[in-house]
Amino acid sequence: MEGGFTSLRSKNRWDPPRQEQDMESLRGKVGLVTGGSRGIGLAIARALVAEGVQVAVTGRNAAHLSAARPRIESAGPGSVETLQADVRRYAEVERAVAATVARFGGLDILINNAGIGIFAEVAEMTPEQWAEVIDTNLTGVFNACHAAIPQLRRRDGGFIINISSLAGRNSFASAASYCASKAGLNAFSEALMQEVRYDGIRVSYVMPGSVATAFGRGGDQSMGADWKIAPEEVAEVVLNLLRHDRRSLPSRVELRPSKPRKP
Ligand SMILES: NC(=O)c1ccc[n+]([C@@H]2O[C@H](COP(=O)([O-])OP(=O)(O)OC[C@H]3O[C@@H](n4cnc5c(N)ncnc54)[C@H](OP(=O)(O)O)[C@@H]3O)[C@@H](O)[C@H]2O)c1
Repeated sequence: MEGGFTSLRSKNRWDPPRQEQDMESLRGKVGLVTGGSRGIGLAIARALVAEGVQVAVTGRNAAHLSAARPRIESAGPGSVETLQADVRRYAEVERAVAATVARFGGLDILINNAGIGIFAEVAEMTPEQWAEVIDTNLTGVFNACHAAIPQLRRRDGGFIINISSLAGRNSFASAASYCASKAGLNAFSEALMQEVRYDGIRVSYVMPGSVATAFGRGGDQSMGADWKIAPEEVAEVVLNLLRHDRRSLPSRVELRPSKPRKP
């Protein structure tokens, strides 16, 4: 029963993880990245396509999706599909999952990345703004998982990687909705991980600190300060999770800027 583990130990030496084999195994897999038209999601989609994964990305804005498509395709050799779907609307998410399966023949990897931040004190924030954040960052992840899990089970397993935030651990003023949504996402991820692990579905969540994207910048597309994490670095963490040896599961990753701005 524990033969693999015993024999590994009895060799009395360190066996490197089967990186090459695992990297190879990503080729031809099918992935769905929510919010893959910009920022971190775009970088993740490009990284997956570069590894030969066939990738569908969702977003709300058709123009952003059209602009993203050639940028993802050029990372090749994997194929790309862009799908307009708002994660807050279950029917749209269900259609996106079905379209991914119809186009690529199944689903192996779900990256729940779509997220927004509206930063205001609770007394100033409208109930509509509160709902927008929670519906996107938390209910949106439920929607995608609920639609995708039967498809992952059909492939005898797969991956769900949720892009959370350090804000889910470290709350700060004027960010109650965002911090609550990400704290909720962390709890959701840990519960889900325990529900589906025996189906071979590996759930992890990544908690980045500040990433150089247009996130929460009110349409300002400039990417921010040099000290911030690059979106490609978050994508590299995602790839490493996908390649990780099957015998263990890095279920939570915190990713910080090495030298954040001094307070
Ligand atoms: N940037 C940071 O500092 C940072 C730090 C930690 C965690 N994160 C998390 O990382 C994730 C990505 O952030 P980012 O910085 O890459 O943000 P971003 O540059 O603003 O990109 C957000 C992406 O999500 C999509 N999106 C937003 N709402 C959506 C919805 N309701 N349905 C479908 N797609 C939706 C956007 O599509 P449209 O173009 O259609 O709007 C866009 O593709 C978020 O979950 C965020 O909370 C970000």
